[in-house]
Amino acid sequence: MPAKAELYRTAARVLGTLDKSGWILRYRYGDRRLLEDVVLPALDRDDEVASVLLIGCAWYTRHYPDLLPGTDVTTMEIDPAKAAFGGAQHIVANMADIVEHVAPESLDAIVCNGVLGWGLDQPEAVESAFAGAVACLKPGGLFLLGWNDISPRNACPPDTIAALSHLEAVDIPGLQTHSLIALERNQHCYQAWRKPLTA
Ligand SMILES: C[S@@+](CC[C@H](N)C(=O)[O-])C[C@H]1O[C@@H](n2cnc3c(N)ncnc32)[C@H](O)[C@@H]1O
Repeated sequence: MPAKAELYRTAARVLGTLDKSGWILRYRYGDRRLLEDVVLPALDRDDEVASVLLIGCAWYTRHYPDLLPGTDVTTMEIDPAKAAFGGAQHIVANMADIVEHVAPESLDAIVCNGVLGWGLDQPEAVESAFAGAVACLKPGGLFLLGWNDISPRNACPPDTIAALSHLEAVDIPGLQTHSLIALERNQHCYQAWRKPLTA
């Protein structure tokens, strides 16, 4: 096994042991708190949401599937080594190829936080990823985007992404706003859209 994958597996094992003891190591920043304490639990409480795809995995997102206990959660991550931080159902894939891995109109929600501008950078790849995500959402499905409106992460801001222009702006789960800057320091924004019920 490559050294990085081994390192991540070890980290995931140690963190998993700590998690089970109730000592969950996680970021304390406001943007993370909001996502973990408000947005994901609200998504889980939504009776309309039975299946969620979380894109992008890291040591600090390993417990995210546990924040959605009433939901069928799948994770997706381009780096095979980071599968160690994914959920029980995990897909190693580039989001730009999402339609090759996820059935059309099969998901109630997709959470894509910290991927746009963090590896998903090229405009063609961004369009492919987001158009694919929309294709994988059921009509009425939710697309939650977290992105940083700060250089160099904001080279492809959401209002330039054609695939998102077909969606309806809706409130972020648990909040009464479509768009929010969750952390000023890095201009971390959350925005939510819904796939229209009729095409
Ligand atoms: C900054 S981390 C964000 C992790 C997590 N989603 C979060 O809430 O913070 C970015 C992750 O997205 C992954 N990533 C970048 N481009 C990707 C792509 N095109 N498809 C899938 N994962 C990608 C990276 O490998 C990295 O693990």
